[in-house]
Amino acid sequence: MIYVTRKAHFNAAHRLHNSNKSDKWNRETFGKCNNPNWHGHNYTIEVTVAGTVNPETGYVIDLGDLKGIIQKRILDKCDHKNLNLEVPFLEGIIPSTENLVKAFFQELEDDIYEASYGDSKLYSVKLFETERNLAEYRPNPSI
Ligand code: NI
Repeated sequence: MIYVTRKAHFNAAHRLHNSNKSDKWNRETFGKCNNPNWHGHNYTIEVTVAGTVNPETGYVIDLGDLKGIIQKRILDKCDHKNLNLEVPFLEGIIPSTENLVKAFFQELEDDIYEASYGDSKLYSVKLFETERNLAEYRPNPSI
């Protein structure tokens, strides 16, 4: 099995807030991240495709194709946007790193399967909210 990774960056605003809970609960739970006037992050996303190599190209997936899929599915929709208000596929979720990484995986999965060789497929998505904090979604750890 070969694992191929493409990295990309975007900036976005968000607020961690659970509207089913009181303002006090939200302030105590989320602290600064509950700021009603939003705050921003410089996010880094890492998208890993796992599979076998196409003998005609030597590729699992053409990294130019992977770059284009990340651009269209994630960056065009999220870069310089408010993740709570402006991104339809994130509607109704608390935009924590954990929830974002799962939503990004689902947003990328089909296009990557179509663009990659044979049974190669999306393996994991990592999202760095800061240099020190990241979440990874890897729903099929056996591949
Ligand atoms: Ni935040």
